[in-house]
Amino acid sequence: MSNAATVSQRISKPHLAIKGGYKLSGDLTVSGAKNSALVLMTASLLTECPVEISNIPALTDIEGMSKVLRTMGVKLKRQSETINLQAENLNHSDPPYELVNGLRASFFCIGPLLGRLGEAKIPLPGGCRIGARPVVEHIRGLKALGAFVKVEHGVVTASVPGINKRLKGASVVFDCPSVGATETVLMAAVLAEGKTTIENAAQEPEIQDLARMLNMMGAKVIGAGGPTISIQGVKKLFGCNYKVIPDRIEAGTLLIAAAITRSKLRISPVIPEHLSAVLQKLRDCGCQLKIDKKGITIIPGEIQGVDITTQPFPGFPTDLQAPFMALLATAKGTSVVTEKIYENRMQHVGELQRMGASIRLQGSTAVVEGVPQLSAAPVSGGDLRAAAAMVLAGLAAKGTSKVEGLNHLDRGYEDLEKKLNSAGSQIQRHEL
Ligand code: EPZ
Repeated sequence: MSNAATVSQRISKPHLAIKGGYKLSGDLTVSGAKNSALVLMTASLLTECPVEISNIPALTDIEGMSKVLRTMGVKLKRQSETINLQAENLNHSDPPYELVNGLRASFFCIGPLLGRLGEAKIPLPGGCRIGARPVVEHIRGLKALGAFVKVEHGVVTASVPGINKRLKGASVVFDCPSVGATETVLMAAVLAEGKTTIENAAQEPEIQDLARMLNMMGAKVIGAGGPTISIQGVKKLFGCNYKVIPDRIEAGTLLIAAAITRSKLRISPVIPEHLSAVLQKLRDCGCQLKIDKKGITIIPGEIQGVDITTQPFPGFPTDLQAPFMALLATAKGTSVVTEKIYENRMQHVGELQRMGASIRLQGSTAVVEGVPQLSAAPVSGGDLRAAAAMVLAGLAAKGTSKVEGLNHLDRGYEDLEKKLNSAGSQIQRHEL
């Protein structure tokens, strides 16, 4: 194929055309948290009563989860940012392979299905580009609660023995503070007989959000957000109206967009303690932050390099490692970025290098030498946060970048280009 054809062939994929060099200004709105909304939707399986969840972002992952729940018999309707769900008559507990395989979060259904029906059959969520993403901890926890679990032909089949098919409370100690495993065991334990304690639990804000909603439904959960969670099982849960917390990862992404374009910008709503590690790193690299009742205003100074190591919450979040690296590529001085959560979350390094970034990669450690100016290029994001990082780099690069990987971006960011354009950027979406 001729060079022109390969270039045009490359450009013909859906992409964002980003004209770099524009400042941002004003106020940007943060949507509801994707990684909370998804698990809260699965919690509706725990009751036959109606559940209303508001502040739900418009994302392809949310549409995917809606499809999965509907196949199991959940009545679900969406009106703008609110979803009404009712799992009155769950007709079966095995969502189709092709739906689950595309959406890792749908594996969370296994906990509530076991708690509610005493049986579940869920395809194993595949690995993805950032790592193998095993579910060993999830399965260990469900077995501790008395479930029989077998994994064969890529499907996890679980059932609870005994005439009333009810799980039994137990002590669960995780080897690693897995977010998904903590959510899975938490949702299985709320209807179990007796008390469950989860030790070495994940402490992310999304876990607290889930515990708050479960308690609103009549569950008895204490300690969520800390390393040890205690759950006193109850016989039945009821409906509730619940509002999802703001998305801390989107909030961080928008703050970094301001920093990389050296723009003053305000974002809201945001809960500052949900991203303290990120705010600290923004201050350390030269940004002033003004925190008010509902929002944060960022005023970047000269951006200096800083070192980042991703950790479980409350450490620096892995989901902002790629976006922050785009900023560090334009900083003065050297930064060392170490990814400790996923074994393969450095694919954005090659794409940043195509834009002129000076980065040396050794395994999951990147040494970033800041450059005065990135240059626009056709690039792509292999996971949703890498795609976001490429958008941010495009905002600062000289020229017009073409960022592919919109299928990833749209999974986790609601109208990102519309939000950025409303603040002054020049981004055009080109579908096929
Ligand atoms: C959640 O994934 C988020 N997804 C991820 O966000 C986020 O990166 C991750 O938590 C960490 O914060 C949702 O909430 C839908 P984990 P999850 O189980 O639950 C290892 C995004 O960009 N592990 O805490 O799958 C695992 O391999 C996405 O929005 C085991 O070793 O994350 C990984 O290296 C990406 N054994 C690490 O723990 C297990 O049994 C974190 O995984 C389970 C996990």
